[in-house]
Amino acid sequence: MLRPIISQERIERRLDELAAQIRRDYEGKDFTIVAIMKGAIFFLVDLLRRVDLPARLDVVHVSSYTGTVSGGAVKVLADMTLDVRNRHVLLIDDILDTGLTLTHVLEELERQGPHSLKTCVLLSKKARRQVEIEPAYCGFEIGDEYVVGYGLDHNDRYRHLPYIAALEEE
Ligand code: IMP
Ligand code: MG
Repeated sequence: MLRPIISQERIERRLDELAAQIRRDYEGKDFTIVAIMKGAIFFLVDLLRRVDLPARLDVVHVSSYTGTVSGGAVKVLADMTLDVRNRHVLLIDDILDTGLTLTHVLEELERQGPHSLKTCVLLSKKARRQVEIEPAYCGFEIGDEYVVGYGLDHNDRYRHLPYIAALEEE
């Protein structure tokens, strides 16, 4: 069963705020956005249109989840193609949960020697954190529940929903 928790209107309003902040922080800089596939796709597109800066764009494809359980080990399924040495890099993901995924990708990016490296997530579940990590930009703090919609999936379904919903057992 799907229980809506964040409406499309709230997402859009929050995106306006985040985009304004990001635009202020990166205007005039050599700016590269790296998004984690596939969950961040919807967030990335709607956000970048609003930020409206000539950013470079790259993606990494990682996976750690099966169903609603984090597998722990983060697998990089497809790596990025741009060189981010000396660039200002913003890493974008749909949700910060245990923090293992972002930490892993941040370490890989750090090795390339970016000028700066920050993170932006639509959602954060603070209660679930296993490693200490605070995103520079965060859309919404949510409770410890499995959510779908707006790019977030359960076994690759429900990404299309224009709002965020908690997925509950029947
Ligand atoms: P972490 O490594 O535990 O922080 O998990 C991050 C990744 O797990 C995200 O990129 C999501 O793809 C996925 N994930 C974590 N929580 C949820 C959720 O509630 N719904 C859907 N995907 C989730
Ligand atoms: Mg993901």
